[in-house]
Formats: sequence, structure tokens, C-alpha cells
Amino acid sequence: MMHVPVLLKEVINYLNPQANENFIDATIGQGGHTAAILKKNKPQGKVLGIEMDPDIYKELKEKMAKMSDRLILINDSYVHLKKIVKRNDFKPVHGILFDLGMCSWHLEASKRGFSYLKDEPLDMRFNPQNNLTAAEIINFWDIKEIEKILREFGEEKYAHRISLAIKEVRKKERIVGTQQLVDILKKALPKNYDKKRIHFATRTFQALRIAVNDELQVIKDGIKQAIKILEPGGRIAVISFHSLEDRIVKNLFREKAKIEELNILTKKPLTVSLEEIRNNSRSRSAKLRAAEKL
Ligand SMILES: C[S@@+](CC[C@H](N)C(=O)[O-])C[C@H]1O[C@@H](n2cnc3c(N)ncnc32)[C@H](O)[C@@H]1O
Repeated sequence: MMHVPVLLKEVINYLNPQANENFIDATIGQGGHTAAILKKNKPQGKVLGIEMDPDIYKELKEKMAKMSDRLILINDSYVHLKKIVKRNDFKPVHGILFDLGMCSWHLEASKRGFSYLKDEPLDMRFNPQNNLTAAEIINFWDIKEIEKILREFGEEKYAHRISLAIKEVRKKERIVGTQQLVDILKKALPKNYDKKRIHFATRTFQALRIAVNDELQVIKDGIKQAIKILEPGGRIAVISFHSLEDRIVKNLFREKAKIEELNILTKKPLTVSLEEIRNNSRSRSAKLRAAEKL
């Protein structure tokens, strides 16, 4: 797996790892950010890395477990952060990183229907052991519910139209594949749909992924626990990839700054340089916010 960590220099700059400090990488993925932290917090500093996806976890374990005996790997969701930290007696914690959402591996190789460019089963689960899939939502959820998630999690202005189109098709057949869904969208949406900016399936796919993985609630819960876990002076850094995620981070940080639990280090979120975008197109919409625990 080739993988370029997003905003690496900036993340390291804000987390500012020093010798012997401990860090949590709540979304360790392919371990790009963690590898950089491990270089800085030698010789005794540890990283607790959490990854929810069992396939990514397995690959990571094979690749990284030998790399450092200062790395603890956990296959779980960061929604259980507090419990995980307690169970591993991991303290004190000087910094926590969240690099939200999916990896390019999910789009390119998972075969779970994250990409509207491929023809795969409509799955979209980060953890295939969970029950809810995108196909379950599309075929069996109340049409009004589908419209609601398209509007709320996709900010899709044609949510009503799309939900009616789904209603018609599912009277006749099961909607099981990503291209079947793309065809429905193509027919339902205006030809010049948001011509200049994004592919017409982007918002629908985003909405389904968020619903399947309950992402917004999980982000909120996870970051709240992270702030509690940090030592005074410890730093939290969050990379988000769309406006719904960024809004949650921004509001949570502001709320905690008001009650003097956090000092916000990024007045405005940091974005990615043109050069980084050229090397890694997924980074295009990335935004980094960081804060310090008071
Ligand atoms: C953007 S990638 C992280 C990339 C990583 N920073 C790197 O440098 O390789 C996000 C990762 O978080 C994982 N993930 C998503 N939701 C999660 C959750 N609730 N708990 C733990 N991991 C999660 C995804 O499976 C994915 O591998």
C-alpha cells in the first residue's frame, strides 16, 4: 500500500512530540503519522494506535509491530477511547491525533463500495462485523429516512428527488451494486449537476458512508473522550475531510475553550498546500485544527 500521510509536517508541528512523551493515534490507518511520531518520542515514548477496520489492522500489524516495541496496536473504534486507554493503562497522554474518515485503500482496494467509480457491493462498513450496510439502508429504510440522511449527511439539495427515484427502482428490484446506484442518480439528477465542482454521486456516497458508520456521532464522542484523557499542556490535532466533520471539531473546540478546558491553537483551520494536493488528491479538502489542554 502506497500511502502519503496528510498534512504530516503540520501535524508534527502542532503535536510537537518530545523525547519520552506518549501519544494516541486514534485512526492509525497505514501508520504514516505514527511512524513520524515514533521517530520523535524516542527512546521511551509510546504510541497507542487504534484502527477499526480489521483488514487494515491486520496489514498494519504485520508491517509495524516489528518496527517498534513502543507501539501498541488496538483493533477497535476510537468511540471506546476511554475504555481502551484504561484497559492498557496508557498514561500520561501528551497528544492525540484524529485523521478522520476513510483511507485511499477503502476507495481503491477494499471492494466494499466506497467508490462511485467502481462496481462493487453497496457495503461501506469500516468494520464488516457490524450489521448495517449501505444496501440495507437503500433497500429497506423508510424513504423519508433516506431523504433525511441525504440532506443531513450529504448536504444534497436534490435529496427529495433522489429518494423518490430510489423508491421507484426498489419496487422492481434490489439495489445491490454501486453502479446500479450511480445509474439511478444519473437519471434522477439534472445534467449540469454542480458541474464545476463535484461528481454527482459524491454527496450521496458520503451520506451513506456516514450513516452506515454513524460517523458524526462517533467523531463527537471520540473527541470529547480524547480531551478528557489529555494531560494539561497536551495537544489534540484533528484532520477532517468535509464541512460536516470540520463543523463538529470547530464547535467542540470552541465549547471547551469557553469553559477553559482548551486553548485553540489554530484560529482558522490549516489547509493543504498546492504541492501536497498535486502529490495526493485525497488531501484536497483536508483541514487541520489543533488545541492544547489547559
Ligand atoms: C484517513 S485514514 C488514517 C491514515 C493515517 N493517519 C496514516 O497516516 O496512515 C483513517 C483511518 O481511520 C479508520 N477509522 C475510521 N473510523 C474509525 C473509528 N471510529 N475508530 C478507529 N479507526 C477508525 C479508517 O479505517 C482508516 O483506516
